[in-house]
Amino acid sequence: MSEPTHPLVPQPCTLVIFGGSGDLARRKLVPAVYNLLLDGVLPPNYAVLGNGRTPLSDEDFRKTAQEGIAKYSRQKFKEVIWPDFSRRLFYITGSIDDPKAYKDIKARLERIESDLRLPSNRIFYLAIPPASISAVVEGLRYAGLVQPPTENKPFSRIIVEKPIGHDLESARHINDTLARVFDESQIFRIDHYLGKETVQNLLVLRFANSIFEPIWNHKYIDHVQITVAEAEGVGTRATYYEEAGALRDMVQNHILQLLCLVAMEPPYSLDADVVRNARMEVLRCLRPIVGKDVEQYTVRAQYAAGKVHGADVPGYRRESGVKPDSTTETYVALKLFVENWRWSGVPLYLRTGKALNKRASEIAVFFKPTPQILFNANPEAPLAPNILVMKIQPEEGLTLRIICKVPGTKAKTNPVELHFQYGEAFAAPSPEAYERLLLDVMAGDTSLFMRRDAVEASWAWITGILEGWKAYGTKWLPEYTAGSMGPVEANRLIESDGRSWRTL
Ligand code: BG6
Repeated sequence: MSEPTHPLVPQPCTLVIFGGSGDLARRKLVPAVYNLLLDGVLPPNYAVLGNGRTPLSDEDFRKTAQEGIAKYSRQKFKEVIWPDFSRRLFYITGSIDDPKAYKDIKARLERIESDLRLPSNRIFYLAIPPASISAVVEGLRYAGLVQPPTENKPFSRIIVEKPIGHDLESARHINDTLARVFDESQIFRIDHYLGKETVQNLLVLRFANSIFEPIWNHKYIDHVQITVAEAEGVGTRATYYEEAGALRDMVQNHILQLLCLVAMEPPYSLDADVVRNARMEVLRCLRPIVGKDVEQYTVRAQYAAGKVHGADVPGYRRESGVKPDSTTETYVALKLFVENWRWSGVPLYLRTGKALNKRASEIAVFFKPTPQILFNANPEAPLAPNILVMKIQPEEGLTLRIICKVPGTKAKTNPVELHFQYGEAFAAPSPEAYERLLLDVMAGDTSLFMRRDAVEASWAWITGILEGWKAYGTKWLPEYTAGSMGPVEANRLIESDGRSWRTL
């Protein structure tokens, strides 16, 4: 196996989780640290300090952590390493709105660091609603918990979860708040899609194989489809989702990042800012969708009652916590263009939705047809195009459709698929996105995180659509039956170009 040299090594540190008694900590963060330990990649010395309003002792926190690991960890709970892991888990009760809480956190951190002989490298994870970011950032500053980035000195880093704002202005406000106290190099804005193994493979596929890059452009590619389909409905997150909707929740961040990886130019190195610049360039090239354009280039819809995997699903407006006259979209489809040399004239179609017939995320690159001679001579029956499908989840791998001769005496052809599956090619299951991302923060590697300019550029583009919807969006919001593949309007969006969505 070949490995590029990576100068950044995870450093001994303490992970402070604000929102430590919450869902994210229990389901994702603590299990991620645990898996990193099992994989032998954690720094030799580390600690986790949870903070939350819920009064918990260290023992309570350890018990919740154990339950979380038993339920959600990628690898099984192992009794033998538990004592050493659990003695490094701590909890401190305190309200993030109370400035004194930060002094208490500081004192507690100093005690933990002295007991475990840890350097005062600190990572502050904000697993809290965005409205509280400002309070925590100010609290950290007030307690003297943030050190400027200086080589060979202990580090202070902050991890921020999405949503970073609900439009361009609010995103700028959050970024300003962070920038008052932290240097950009200390800020790690998570987009967990960038931590997914299959998403990281996009760059490898494009730039470590000589066969794809020469044809990765408008001369050979007809169009691209990016799909993130979810079978789950809104679940228990109506309060958040009602204000967000599919465009803000999925497209502004995850799907635009997938698009960047598909469309970016080759970065000249793997240095964080070189890669981030290349991703950023794509956002700069997005043709704006503003005003009346929304009618031509966007579709939004909401799910109506139906069945997903045999289970009854109420219509979105009937879900608990949703307004009966809600106009929040649970599905969105877009047609867009990246206006540069490589992608000139190539449409990229995006679609995402909740309560669809299955969970499936993939990127499909459709290649142009062969000339109309030889096997493709009959215009009445054109050959099926070559399609490269990068499967993100739950299937992990890729397929390539090629045209093949049907065995026999006739010159008959048929499309067939070449398959690669992670599970078959590699013995170990892929790490969870949060594992990779936490490790990168410990190492100070910002490559897989969102830089301020990228967050704001994608909000600027999304805000154009949001404003267009406000001004020109029809009052009537199309519906699709829960358990279907989305609204007919989304089919029309692509079919009016003589193309169709891939069946998932
Ligand atoms: C989150 C969204 O960011 O991503 C959710 O807020 C969505 O609505 C989730 O369900 C999807 O993540 P994944 O990793 O399950 O595809």
